[in-house]
Amino acid sequence: MNDFAVDVQGLSKWYGNLKAVDNVSFQVHKGSSFGLLGLNGAGKTTTFKMMVSLIRPDSGTAIISGYDVVKAPMKVRSHIGYVAENPAFYTRKTTLETLRYVCRLLDVPINDQNRRIDYVLGLVGLTDKKNALVGGYSRGMRHRLGLAQALLSEPQVLFLDEPTLGLDPLGAKSMRELILRLRQEKEVTVLMSSHVLPEVEAICDMVGIFDHGHLVALDTIDHLRSTASNSLNIEMVMAEPDQQVAQALRLLPGVNQVEVSGAKLDINAIKNEDLRPRIMKEAVANNANVLSFGLKENSLEDILLHLVASDASDLPEQRSGLIPTSLFRLIQNNRRD
Ligand SMILES: Nc1ncnc2c1ncn2[C@@H]1O[C@H](COP(=O)(O)OP(=O)(O)O)[C@@H](O)[C@H]1O
Ligand SMILES: [Mg+2]
Repeated sequence: MNDFAVDVQGLSKWYGNLKAVDNVSFQVHKGSSFGLLGLNGAGKTTTFKMMVSLIRPDSGTAIISGYDVVKAPMKVRSHIGYVAENPAFYTRKTTLETLRYVCRLLDVPINDQNRRIDYVLGLVGLTDKKNALVGGYSRGMRHRLGLAQALLSEPQVLFLDEPTLGLDPLGAKSMRELILRLRQEKEVTVLMSSHVLPEVEAICDMVGIFDHGHLVALDTIDHLRSTASNSLNIEMVMAEPDQQVAQALRLLPGVNQVEVSGAKLDINAIKNEDLRPRIMKEAVANNANVLSFGLKENSLEDILLHLVASDASDLPEQRSGLIPTSLFRLIQNNRRD
């Protein structure tokens, strides 16, 4: 067996005339974590469902923990845990009944069921809800129960589709901590999709960015961030609005653009030379009262929004400053339409 927990090659899925997932390929090393990012409708959930053998790919292969999702779906299911986008349960069952039911579905040996159930309930913090009806659960508790049932198989690979969707900040934080703990203690491979980009940054080593069914970027977050732009963004806040300073900075060689919002200037400058000292000097020479001055990091959000094109035709020139060549190649290879 190779070192990959997940090996997806050329995966595609049609819904009627819509190609929801188009020729997607990626690999995830055992023990690492991979984030699927993309706007609504990008194809993340469909990709998840194919990887967990809930729907059949129209073409391509997905090998999960060494098993082919089409040829050995039951093997795949017994090695993974899956938390769906909106985990749904029988509302009239108790927590314990729900987990016993899942144990039966998973063929967990009868004499091991209680141990596993106690263990997963302890992990997700629902031990004291063992006899509570699931119908009375809050959304946060349903997510926890979703994770508990996914862990019953003692999975090697965990698939989490939007694990914090709809949770309040506290619920989201504790879910994040739980996922990180599972990674560290159990060495499970984690695949998760999310809109919450800092969360993906906190958990994932690698990300795949999906757009209209295509995988348009596959990279580490650090690398994406450092290469996603050929320019630097600098933010300068002055004590009061001052158009003259903005105008003076626009004339500096290497400064591409200066946007004014009240007393704040957003300065875009070339990257190959650090122009900050020169910009600062020029501002002071123009009597600017500078309150703060600093580099603005590309947020993953900026990167995501710049990478996902609403239309393949708007990719080249106007975006070329934003997408590194390696990503461009990937985008072009993946765009067959
Ligand atoms: N069961 C389905 N039948 C028809 N179209 C679907 C179905 N599921 C998803 N789609 C469509 O496929 C595309 C990808 O959806 P999805 O995989 O859910 O994206 P994401 O999870 O990234 O939001 C969307 O355009 C969606 O409307
Ligand atoms: Mg989805």
